[in-house]
Amino acid sequence: MRTQVAIIGAGPAGLLLGQLLGKAGIDNIIVEQRSPDYVLGRIRAGILECGTVQALERAGAAARLHDEGLPHEGIELSWHGRRHRIDLHALTGRKVTVYGQTEVTRDLMAAREALGARTIYEADGVSLHGFDGERPLVRYRKDGSTHEIACDYIAGCDGFHGVSRQSVPPASMRQFERVYPFGWLGVLSDTPPLADELVYASHERGFALCSMRSRTRSRYYVQVPSSERVEDWSDERFWNELRSRLDPQAAASLQTGPALEKSIAPLRSFVCEPLRFGRLFLAGDAAHIVPPTGAKGLNLAAGDVASLSDALTARYRDNDPAALDTYSETRLRRIWKAERFSWWMTSLLHRFADADGFSSRIQQAELEELVGSEAACRALAENYVGQPL
Ligand code: APR
Ligand code: PHB
Repeated sequence: MRTQVAIIGAGPAGLLLGQLLGKAGIDNIIVEQRSPDYVLGRIRAGILECGTVQALERAGAAARLHDEGLPHEGIELSWHGRRHRIDLHALTGRKVTVYGQTEVTRDLMAAREALGARTIYEADGVSLHGFDGERPLVRYRKDGSTHEIACDYIAGCDGFHGVSRQSVPPASMRQFERVYPFGWLGVLSDTPPLADELVYASHERGFALCSMRSRTRSRYYVQVPSSERVEDWSDERFWNELRSRLDPQAAASLQTGPALEKSIAPLRSFVCEPLRFGRLFLAGDAAHIVPPTGAKGLNLAAGDVASLSDALTARYRDNDPAALDTYSETRLRRIWKAERFSWWMTSLLHRFADADGFSSRIQQAELEELVGSEAACRALAENYVGQPL
C-alpha cells in the first residue's frame, strides 16, 4: 500500500488530522491497534475551546456539536463553603462548549467513513521505519499476514503509550515529566448536572469536580491517593465523599444515581521535545500529557493537528516546507503554556499529602487572591477558554 501521510492511532488527534488532510485532498491511512468500539469506550474530558470547535468545523464534523453541545460562559469555584463564579465570557469575550470527547470521536469516525478514507483497525505489532530518510514505512500484522504502507510522512497520534515516540532513538529527544501523588476517581451517571456550569471544588478532604455531558448526564470526580483501587469505591461511598467536599448548597442539590462508569485516572504532566524526527511528527498525547484540571488535553491535541495539517497542506500544495520546519518550535510554545496552566490549576486546587504548613498557607492565599481579584480571574479565564485557531 502507498499513501501520502500514514497516521498512527485513531483517537481524536489521528481522526481529526485524517479529516483535515482528507478535506485538503491529501491521501492518508490511519493504522489503529484497537477496534472502533474499544476506542469509543474511553471516557475523557469534554470541554472544547473555540479553536477546537473551529477545527471540527473545518473537518466537517461539527453539525451535532452545534446541535447538542452546551455553550458555557462561566465556571464556579467552591471553596470555604461558598461558590464563586468566574465569568469567562465577560472576562475574555469567549465561551467554551461542553461536548463529550466520545461524541467528538464518534462524529469524526462518521465523517471519515463519509469521506471514504481508509482506516485499519485492530492492526497488531505496528512498527515505524525509515523516517530519518526519504522513504518512511509503516508495518503491521493483521489477519495472520504482515502488511506495509509506504508514505511520505508519518504522524504519530498514538497516545502516551504508543509506538511512535518509542521508535525515536532516546538520544534524539528530551522528556520532561511530573507525576502527581494522586488520581481522579470519576463517575458517569444519568442524573441531571449539579448546576448549570462546572463546579471546581477545593476542600480539606481533597479536590472535586462536578461536570456534565448533557442536561441529563453528569460526570463527577474526586481526588484520591494514587494507591486507591476502584473496587473499593461503592457508588454510595463515592457520592458521600463527593458531597462532603462541596459547599452546603451544592451538597444539598446533588442528585445521585447508579454509576454507568467508574474509573481512576492518574495525573501526569509530560512533554517530549522536539516533536519532529525527520519525516515523523508527533501530535496529541503521544507528545504531551497534562493533568485534566484545566481540560486542555483534547484542545492541545486539536491545536497540534490543525497546525500539522496546515503545514502538510503548504508542503503539498505550494511545495513550501517552512511550516513543517517550524511545527515543533511553534507548537512547543503553546504546549508549555498549557502545561503551566494545567500544573498551576492542579497545584491550586488539590490537597498534597506532603504539604507543610507554609505550602498550605500559600495555597489558601492564592485562592483568596483568585476570588478577590478580577485580574487574577481574568488570567485564569484567558487560559481556560484558550485562543482561536
Ligand atoms: N499502534 C497503533 N495505534 C496505537 C498504538 C500502536 N502501537 N498505541 C496506541 N494506539 C492508539 C490507541 O489505541 C488510541 O486509539 O492510538 C490512539 C491514541 O488515542 P488517545 O490516547 O486518545 O490520544 P490522542 O488522540 O492524542 O488524544 C488527545 O484525547 O483521548 C484524549 O487524553 C487524550 O485528551 C487527550 C486527547
Ligand atoms: C469532564 O467533564 O470530564 C471534565 C471537565 C473539566 C475538566 C476535566 C474533566 O477540567
